[in-house]
Amino acid sequence: MRALREAFGQFATGVAVITTVTAGGERAGVTVNSFTSVSLDPPLVLWCLSDRAPSAPLFLRAGRFVVNVLAADQGHLSQRFATPAADKFAGVELAGAPLPVLAGTLAHFVCRTERVYDGGDHHIFVGAVERYQRAEGEPLLFHAGRYREFWPELAIGGDRVAECA
Ligand SMILES: Cc1cc2nc3c(=O)[nH]c(=O)nc-3n(C[C@H](O)[C@H](O)[C@H](O)COP(=O)(O)O)c2cc1C
Repeated sequence: MRALREAFGQFATGVAVITTVTAGGERAGVTVNSFTSVSLDPPLVLWCLSDRAPSAPLFLRAGRFVVNVLAADQGHLSQRFATPAADKFAGVELAGAPLPVLAGTLAHFVCRTERVYDGGDHHIFVGAVERYQRAEGEPLLFHAGRYREFWPELAIGGDRVAECA
């Protein structure tokens, strides 16, 4: 299992914090690197949550979530939301409520939970993007169990990659 985890970890990703709030006002936030865009039309995203995560029942109940894409200087937020705590949001600056939108991110996507698939020991949440916002900046990266720095100048056969979803 450890060997497989390490092999999966060779796939470099960004880092996002998925947040939500229930009708009763209970908030949850988890750090993930399993976020990906799925579809442009309709706009869909997905992310995966361990079925053993204490926050899983809350995300299943809430029916909505926000994907907060972390910037290079937000490693402390990644650590905060990856560590179980009574109130992960204590002292965290928010740019929106009641659905918690984190301040200072590169982008956020407010989503309605469209479907939840069984993904082995994870739930696969597919969200329909209701609104989003984007900012300029460098991303927080994750590879082989470590945070990494962005190397902005690498161009392969041109400045931009061909358009993709
Ligand atoms: C960079 C990074 C990426 C992570 N990606 C995921 C993920 O995609 N899915 C997941 O279930 N946990 C992931 N985790 C672990 C969760 O953030 C962690 O288990 C968290 O405590 C879960 O929140 P909860 O305890 O409030 O349920 C990741 C942790 C880090 C540091």
